Amino acid sequence: MQLIATCAFGLEKIVFKELKALGLWIDQTEDGRVTFQGEFSDLVKANLWLRTADRIQIKLAEFPATTFDQLFDATTALDWDNIIPKDATFPVLCSTSKSTLHNEPSIQSIVKKAIVKKLLPRHSTPQIPETGPTYSILARFNKDICTLSLDTTGDSLHKRGYRTEANLAPLKETLAAALILLSDWKADRPLIDPFCGSGTILIEAAMIGLNIAPGLNRNFTFESWPDSDKALIKKLRYEAAEALQPTPLNLQGSDFNPRTIDTAHQNIERAGLTDQIKLKQLDVHDLDFAEIKNSTIITNPPYGERLSEISAVEKLYAELGKLYAKTQHTSLYILASHPEFQKVFGQQADKNRKLFNGKIKCWYYQYLAK
Ligand SMILES: C[S@@+](CC[C@H](N)C(=O)[O-])C[C@H]1O[C@@H](n2cnc3c(N)ncnc32)[C@H](O)[C@@H]1O
Repeated sequence: MQLIATCAFGLEKIVFKELKALGLWIDQTEDGRVTFQGEFSDLVKANLWLRTADRIQIKLAEFPATTFDQLFDATTALDWDNIIPKDATFPVLCSTSKSTLHNEPSIQSIVKKAIVKKLLPRHSTPQIPETGPTYSILARFNKDICTLSLDTTGDSLHKRGYRTEANLAPLKETLAAALILLSDWKADRPLIDPFCGSGTILIEAAMIGLNIAPGLNRNFTFESWPDSDKALIKKLRYEAAEALQPTPLNLQGSDFNPRTIDTAHQNIERAGLTDQIKLKQLDVHDLDFAEIKNSTIITNPPYGERLSEISAVEKLYAELGKLYAKTQHTSLYILASHPEFQKVFGQQADKNRKLFNGKIKCWYYQYLAK
């Protein structure tokens, strides 16, 4: 099968590395997706193990289409009887970019009609009942090329199952994992998040440090499919659970908001990581930076999205620059959306990478340990 791992813009290279580490053969990396080869077991492993991808899809077809007739004919040409079982529910979703066909509801309706036309003869009813398991079809248009794929994931992979309640600006779990994988942090190094919010960075670090598969505590769409090899899924889930490597970790978080610290405690408990992460309710100014040595700080301070907040946030970043200067042999990784961050912080970053936190364009400023 050709499989697609979709991800947020900017994370493709990390998804590529994660797929390589799973021993998979990669065909292509494009904006927001990595295409790779695999069998059913690889699809299961990718869903269970990828920390930075959003979903895994099975690629069904790829063809040029600039008219609805072309789209209809190319869709009808697929062997839908073998893709979608009788009575399955098959919603059609769509995304378009730089394409002649860009009316998404119309594209969805044409693809749905084409599939129904192929599947209806096997039913004795005038309509397909769609009462069974879900087979979501995705039609993605990019530069007049349509890719049809089948979603295997269900809820996006960032939903690990440990976060049911979030503070005001939580980081997606996939992005938090990417921040860690892009950093110099290793399990034997202290990790500090002084603006920890709901604790996402610390939880993802603990899962990486202990080799916990991020998908272990959730289900995937493919598990509800009647033809899925249930014994194989059980085996791969068992192997993933067995892969946990107990390791002493030093993960510390703080935040000045007591309610946020409560939320972080709850998330950490749900993730089963209470013994691994230490939290304190603390203003960043009260954290003793002179005591921080040979550590990694990875953090996502407030952005100040509203104009009224910008000057307060700039003051905070400037103070943070002075506090960081007190640390020894410690690297600092900061995700911020302020385009002049380095100037305000008072130091040019060693590395810098554009990332998206949802729709917010951010930069990941990386100050390496000296
Ligand atoms: C963008 S949020 C961090 C979100 C976090 N990464 C998560 O996934 O939930 C910024 C956090 O900084 C905290 N904060 C703002 N000013 C602070 C200060 N002076 N000292 C400590 N924490 C502060 C806020 O309470 C908020 O939780």
